[in-house]
Amino acid sequence: MNTKIYRLDGYIRTGKLTTEDLEKLAEAAAILAGGGLVAFPTETVYGLGGNALSPEAAAKIYAAKGRPSDNPLIVHIASMEELEPLVSAVPEGAARLAARYWPGPMTMIFPKSGIVPDETTGGLSTVAVRYPSHPAANALIRMAGVPVAAPSANRSGRPSTTKAAHCVEDLDGRVDAIIDGGDSDIGLESTIIDVTGTHPQLLRPGAVTLEMIEETLHDKVTEDAALLGPLGAEVRPKAPGMKYRHYAPKAPMILVTGEDENRVAEEMLRQILKKKEEGRKTALICSGACLERIRQLSGNSIEEDTVIRSIADREAQEQWAHELFESLREMDETDAEFIIAEGCSEQQLGRAIMNRMKKAAAWQIIEV
Ligand code: TXA
Ligand code: MG
Repeated sequence: MNTKIYRLDGYIRTGKLTTEDLEKLAEAAAILAGGGLVAFPTETVYGLGGNALSPEAAAKIYAAKGRPSDNPLIVHIASMEELEPLVSAVPEGAARLAARYWPGPMTMIFPKSGIVPDETTGGLSTVAVRYPSHPAANALIRMAGVPVAAPSANRSGRPSTTKAAHCVEDLDGRVDAIIDGGDSDIGLESTIIDVTGTHPQLLRPGAVTLEMIEETLHDKVTEDAALLGPLGAEVRPKAPGMKYRHYAPKAPMILVTGEDENRVAEEMLRQILKKKEEGRKTALICSGACLERIRQLSGNSIEEDTVIRSIADREAQEQWAHELFESLREMDETDAEFIIAEGCSEQQLGRAIMNRMKKAAAWQIIEV
């Protein structure tokens, strides 16, 4: 299959869709309406879209991603009117959260209506719905005239894609088109919240934080078991996708966490030296401040045989989120056999960052 690339030059340059951009989006929308697959930008990560009401399109999405078909897809809409036909009820909490955070980086679970095929929901009686805020995503969905099912636009098991080049890496030749809208703003997938029960439950942390949801609903949000630790065979996460070892770079990774940055740096250096003794090439993912400290502690001796990827400082959570998946993807381009990464606080957006990092590390965590 020849994958068409539509680059939204005007949007990338100015942040606004131009007439030319809209023409390209109209072509891409026609592909979706005709049953094809289109990767497109959203404010969280890129999505791999298909007609959410078509079982055949869902099957194509699973095939293109190499994803198990029991893992349900998120259905994307471009107006509140599109919600009603997809769901059999709107819980009160969902209405409140929608009023506050839609369009935006939040997905909610609803009991599904008859028009959503089982193929889209992996056989579940519920459907996950998101109304993204990205103008290109909105225009695309509106022009397609159908709700758009879209998982993250990566091959199954790889980190989500936050730029079109990542989508090309993973999906070239496997989808009909890729829309290049520049970098994803947020860089982490949407928050998934289930408000169908008596208390709201967080299934996946994201940029709409647990704290923000608690404040809006005046209720305590519980976290699904998949967020709290490695899952035993007997525990089933509510979001089926959370059971997979996602976001994983090819090399094994260890996460070092702790409030005291000096102690974290010391431990990271200890780990580097240990791997060095074993003759293993290591890579480091850490904040600029931590890297500085490691350099000082080691007398600059780690440079020549360590792959170094520094990301934003700990306080700059948004920047950290923005760079995380790219830094994990970059690791696969290197010859590093082992990755040592710094963790951050789990407050606010940090909860989402750490969730992705813990999964990338397969829960190998050293707390200092
Ligand atoms: O930011 C995002 O959410 C991106 C963009 C493209 O919108 N999409 C995304 O989709 O991350 P995906 O498929 O990579 O992750 C969707 C997650 C999976 O863990 C899946 O199991 C869960 O949502 N999910 C989907 N439908 C569900 C449902 N009905 N009940 C519980 N979990 C569901
Ligand atoms: Mg995904």
